[in-house]
Amino acid sequence: MKKVVILSGAGVSAESGISTFRDSGGLWEQYDVMDVASATGWKRNPALVLDFYNQRRAQLEHVEPNQAHLDIAALEKDYEVVVITQNVDNLHERAGSTKVIHLHGELTKVRPEDSYTAEDRYDESRVKNVGFVAVKPGDVDERGVQYRPHIVFFEEAVPKLYDALRELTEADFMIIVGTSLLVQPAASLWQYTPVDCPVYVIDPKDTPIDGEESVVPIRDKASTGVAKAIEMIKATS
Ligand code: APR
Repeated sequence: MKKVVILSGAGVSAESGISTFRDSGGLWEQYDVMDVASATGWKRNPALVLDFYNQRRAQLEHVEPNQAHLDIAALEKDYEVVVITQNVDNLHERAGSTKVIHLHGELTKVRPEDSYTAEDRYDESRVKNVGFVAVKPGDVDERGVQYRPHIVFFEEAVPKLYDALRELTEADFMIIVGTSLLVQPAASLWQYTPVDCPVYVIDPKDTPIDGEESVVPIRDKASTGVAKAIEMIKATS
C-alpha cells in the first residue's frame, strides 16, 4: 500500500467552528500567547492557563469533524495513512483516523506538572484522559501534584517530533492542510519527505512554500481542497 502522510493545522478544524490562531479574529488576537500557552505563563499564572484550555475543552464537546476530517479518515481504505497534527482537538480520531500523532499535545488529556519530562523520557504513564471536563487549581494526583494541560507549550520540547520524522521519510505522498507554516519544527517537516514525494498544500491563502519544487498548491478551504488532493493522488497511483 502506498503511504500518505498528512500534516494538519488549525485550518482543518475551522469549518467545524474552532478558531484558528493567526487569522483575523483568531485566538492570538484575543489572548496573549505567552500568558496562556507558554512554560513561563504556566509558572506565572496556572489558573489563567487552566481556564483558557477549559474553555477550549468545553467547546470541543459541541463541535463535529467536517468533510476534510472525514475524507482523510476514508483514505485509509486505499492507502497507509498517518496524520501528523498540530491540533490539540480530537476531530481526526472522531472522524475515524486510526494513526494520529499529536505534535502539540491533546486537549482531552492532563498530566501532573512534574511528569512527562526529558528526565523521565517523556513517560506517558501519568497522562490522564479527562474528556471535556474542566481542570482547576487544586486538582492534584495521588501525590498531591497539580494537574496541567497535556499540551506542548511554547518554550517546551516537542517529544513526538522523532515519531513524525520517521513517518515522513517513508511518505509516497504528503498533504498539508490548514497551517500557516509559521511555527517550528512543524513548518519544516515537509523537507523530510523523499525527493519524489509530491506535497499538496491546501489553504485559502498563499503559503510560504508554494514555490518549492515538490509543492502543489491548492488554493481552497479544507472541506473541498482535501478531496481535490486525494483525486490527484489517486490519479497518479
Ligand atoms: N481551510 C483550510 N485552511 C484554512 C481554513 C479553511 N477553512 N481557514 C483558515 N485556514 C488557514 C489559514 O489561511 C492559515 O494559513 O489555516 C491556517 C491557520 O494558521 P494558524 O492559525 O497559524 O494555525 P496553525 O498553523 O495550526 O498554528 C500552528 O501555532 O499557536 C500555535 O500551537 C499552536 O498548533 C498551533 C501552531
